[in-house]
Amino acid sequence: MFKIYLASSNPHKAVEMSRFLEGVASVEVPSHYQPVKEEGRNFRENALLKARSLSLRMPGKLVLGEDSGLVVPYLGGAPGIKSHRFSTGGTDLSNIEKLLEAMKDARGEERRAYFVSYGVLIRDGEVLWEGEGRVDGIITQEMRGEGGFGYDPVFFYPPLGRTFAELTPEEKNAVSHRGRMLEGLRRFLLDKLKEEQ
Ligand code: IMP
Repeated sequence: MFKIYLASSNPHKAVEMSRFLEGVASVEVPSHYQPVKEEGRNFRENALLKARSLSLRMPGKLVLGEDSGLVVPYLGGAPGIKSHRFSTGGTDLSNIEKLLEAMKDARGEERRAYFVSYGVLIRDGEVLWEGEGRVDGIITQEMRGEGGFGYDPVFFYPPLGRTFAELTPEEKNAVSHRGRMLEGLRRFLLDKLKEEQ
């Protein structure tokens, strides 16, 4: 089993990741984690910034940086890398309210959106693995469901006919952007385990 330190201040992500990587790796946010300024130009750069800064303080440890967000082509790609601080309040609810307001005139195809998750695994500053996951959906007119976090209550996933907030954690992980990114990481870790045996 690997132990991975996650560079994130979002506890929901560590929970989702631990479930997904069960049996291969445990994922935890170190208690001394300090958020970094996300000054990158894209998800990859921000994931690298997060991972590098934590790795400096954790010599020899596996560190995962992840950056994710919601991309709405109708809004020119917003909220994008600014997803968690889209609205002034910066809460999940105020972000959703701002999104629904910005999209009140969007119809049909204009309501298409996708989530992106970019992950970078590093040790002592060296990138061991990196990869991206993406999932396509539709922004609903109103919130539905109690699960998940962030924009989940307004992200409708057509193949299952529900919003992400209406899925069980397992259902969400099986199809989500983060799940898809983690599937790549899981395969990498399994190969690494085989090599070490
Ligand atoms: P990060 O922590 O800088 O990567 O910001 C990610 C932000 O994107 C979160 O705060 C959410 O607003 C949004 N986001 C990322 N992944 C998800 C998801 O799985 N569901 C809903 N919102 C998400």
